[in-house]
Amino acid sequence: MFQAQAISATDKPTFYAELAQQLAGLVHGEGDPVANAANTAALLFDMLPDLNWAGFYFMRGGELVVGPFQGKPACVRIPVGRGVCGSTVAARASILVEDVHAFPGHIACDAASRSELVVPLIRDGEVLGVIDLDSPLPARFGADDQAGIEAIARIYLAASYPAGQPGPDAVGR
Ligand code: SME
Repeated sequence: MFQAQAISATDKPTFYAELAQQLAGLVHGEGDPVANAANTAALLFDMLPDLNWAGFYFMRGGELVVGPFQGKPACVRIPVGRGVCGSTVAARASILVEDVHAFPGHIACDAASRSELVVPLIRDGEVLGVIDLDSPLPARFGADDQAGIEAIARIYLAASYPAGQPGPDAVGR
């Protein structure tokens, strides 16, 4: 059975390298996107300090719909281009927000959130969704966190969406 190991690394690149190894072990041999998203969200929430929300939104019918997460109940649907998550889909690139109050159109699911990191899930050029992390601390996330979560996203995608198969939003488009 998988058991998350405490990570003692104090520098972020080493911390994220160890976290990536743990995620690779956690999703190894499992291809179900929801199961892998649930365990990825739980691992992130458990291992990263100072988070109040960690989870997934998936593209469904042209908009983001909340997926597995840890934290307070969140808004269910986010149009592309709206909020930090929808802006990440539109930009097809990660967005780091040091102060959510200064981000025009930020969607406050948890009033405690002060900073946010959103990373897109892109497979074969198609944005499948995002990973969203929220923190009650201002400027909680930096470039090392972005690189680390982008690596986490790649591991999640490789396990859950084999290349060359239609994405989950392909039906009904
Ligand atoms: N703050 C996000 C909405 C999702 S919640 O933080 C979980 C946004 O502005 O898109």
